[in-house]
Parts: sequence; C-alpha cells; structure tokens
Amino acid sequence: MPKASLVSIAAYAPAKILTNLDLEKMVETSDEWITKRTGIKQRRIAQDEDTSDLGTKAARLAIERANLRAKDIDAVICATISPDHFCMPSTACKIAKNLDINSVTAFDISAACTGFIYLLELAKSLIESGSKKNILIIGAEKLSKIVDWADRTTCILFGDGAGAAVVSADSKNEIIDVHTAADGNYAELLITPGGEEKFIKMSGNEVFKVAVQTLTKDVVEILERNKIPSDKIDLFVPHQANLRIIEAVKQRLNFSDEQCVVTVGKYGNTSSASIPMAMNDAYEAGRLKNGDLILLDAFGGGFTWGSALLKFGGESYKR
Ligand code: UT7
Repeated sequence: MPKASLVSIAAYAPAKILTNLDLEKMVETSDEWITKRTGIKQRRIAQDEDTSDLGTKAARLAIERANLRAKDIDAVICATISPDHFCMPSTACKIAKNLDINSVTAFDISAACTGFIYLLELAKSLIESGSKKNILIIGAEKLSKIVDWADRTTCILFGDGAGAAVVSADSKNEIIDVHTAADGNYAELLITPGGEEKFIKMSGNEVFKVAVQTLTKDVVEILERNKIPSDKIDLFVPHQANLRIIEAVKQRLNFSDEQCVVTVGKYGNTSSASIPMAMNDAYEAGRLKNGDLILLDAFGGGFTWGSALLKFGGESYKR
C-alpha cells in the first residue's frame, strides 16, 4: 500500500490589514478588550479578491514548493465555508481552472474550522487506496463577507486568507494518523442561519468551553494511540481562534513555547485556512523542517473537530 506524505505547505494573506483600532471606529469595542479576551491585534481583509483568488495564490506556491507542475496534480479539494458561489461551481473548480488543471477530480468540503484536518484524512485515503498520486488541498476563506460588521461579539474575531499543501505518494515522511469527528447537536451554537440571516452567529462562551475540552481530549487520544509522548512533538499547530484557548490546551498538555505555533494575533480566526496558514508561518520562519513531527488540532462549527499526526515531507525552507 502506498503511503501519503504532506510534501509542501504554502499560504496567502490579502494585503489590507484591519487593526483593533480600526474596529474601535466601527463598533463599541476597544483594543484592550480584544487583546485581553482573544489575543488578536489585527486581521487581513480581501478587497478585490474572492475566496478562489486567495486559494489560487496559496495553491500555486504549494505546487511550486512540492517541485511539481500543475499537470502533475490529479485532485483539487478545497475546504471553505465562504465559497465564491452559493451552490456551484465549487471553489475547487475555480482554483483548478485558474491553475490550468483540467479534467481532474475537484470539489469542496464544508467542515468549518476543522476543514484542513478533514482534507488530510481524505487525501491520505485517496493516496493510500492508490486512486490518486498528487492531491492539492486548500483551506480558503473570505469570512469578511459572512461577518456581521455591526456585531461586536463576532466581527472582531475573523479574518481572510488561504493555506494550501500537496499530499503525494511517498513513504519517507508519512501522515501517520488522522482523526475527525462531528456532533450536530451543537449546530445552533455556531451557525450561519441562512435565508435573510447570512452572517455568522456564535454563543462564544459556550463554544469556548467545549473547544478547550475537545481540543485537549483529541490530542491526548491521538498521542496515546500512537504511543508518542508530547515532548517528542517538534511542532504543535492548534486552530487559531483565541489565544486563551490555545494557552489552555498548551498548558494542559505541557507543550513549550518552542513547540507551539501561534499566529492568531496577526491573522485572527481564518477558519479552514487557520492551520495551514500557521504551518506556513512556522515553515517560512525556519521552524518546520523536513522530517519534523507535527501535531495538528482543530475545532469548529458543526461542531466538528479533529487532530493529525504527521512527519513533514517537504524540503526545508530556503530564502
Ligand atoms: O473557530 C471556531 C471556534 N471558535 C471559538 O473557539 C471561539 C470561542 N469563543 C471565544 O473565543 C470567546 O467566547 C469570545 C472571544 C468570543 C468572547 O469572550 P468571552 O470572554 O467569552 O466574553 P463574553 O461573550 O462572556 O462577553 C463578556 C462581556 C459581555 O458583556 P456583559 O454581558 O458582561 O456586560 C459582552 O457583551 O464582554 C462584552 N463584549 C465585548 N465588549 C467589548 C463582547 N464582545 C465585546 C467586544 N468589545 N468586542
């Protein structure tokens, strides 16, 4: 059976920066409140670009970093909750078209902030079954179009961006284990109701409590299942929703600052793009090298959650 390996990581963040001070002029809030409660200082906002444009830019770089050409890709899968179009075409189809990848499998998935973990599980299965050889996975979000800019309880949290990776058949640095789950009983706590109500609504406090418990439990279970102690992890990349959630999980699991990647301060919560954007930040800072053992952990609307344990199969970053 072929093994699946994540052979590249890349990201794209739109140029416009929206700071907490900018938000002070839009809703009744303060830089102090946002910083203390979330750790977020700024987020990126896409202007003339839609979700597929963000995804295309990250994807192009991910293919280049995998030392492949677009024609080598045999599936394009995009996780998003803010697609270009309501039903069709999928954002993946538009990204594939932009990259000149035609006549290959292309589709979107919807798993909110856990999207990238779901993508990894799908890509691993498709490679290990022998069905595909090089899969382009993308988490891309233009959340600014589904944020209610008059609701101070949510508009301070979210940002736009995209992250992408290539998963290929390669036995050297494999994706060791992926776990995904969901519980629709919590659907109402984090929702875009639909109809006239197209914006994100969240019961923040309740989501917070379940997020900390679930993220911790999921990481403990994947480490135990694979008999790996937490000090053997080179890089822990949690979903970037709130610095207090990340700190709580980090402390419960005894991860050090050196092990943990934190980017929520500069990008806010970018949902399915959050984990690959954070991985890319670590990669470009020289913190993620070929063969490193990485642990990913995500939680989001649905509720959905998941974790992944993998060795990084890409080349170490060259400036
Ligand atoms: O990505 C999917 C997963 N998402 C998450 O994990 C998000 C989880 N939730 C959170 O991160 C936090 O719950 C929030 C950051 C959303 C909120 O923080 P909190 O500490 O849970 O605050 P709260 O909702 O309990 O609100 C406390 C107070 C309230 O005022 P009162 O009722 O105590 O008078 C809010 O009205 O803070 C008020 N408040 C604000 N004040 C200034 C809420 N938003 C703001 C704001 N600026 N932006």
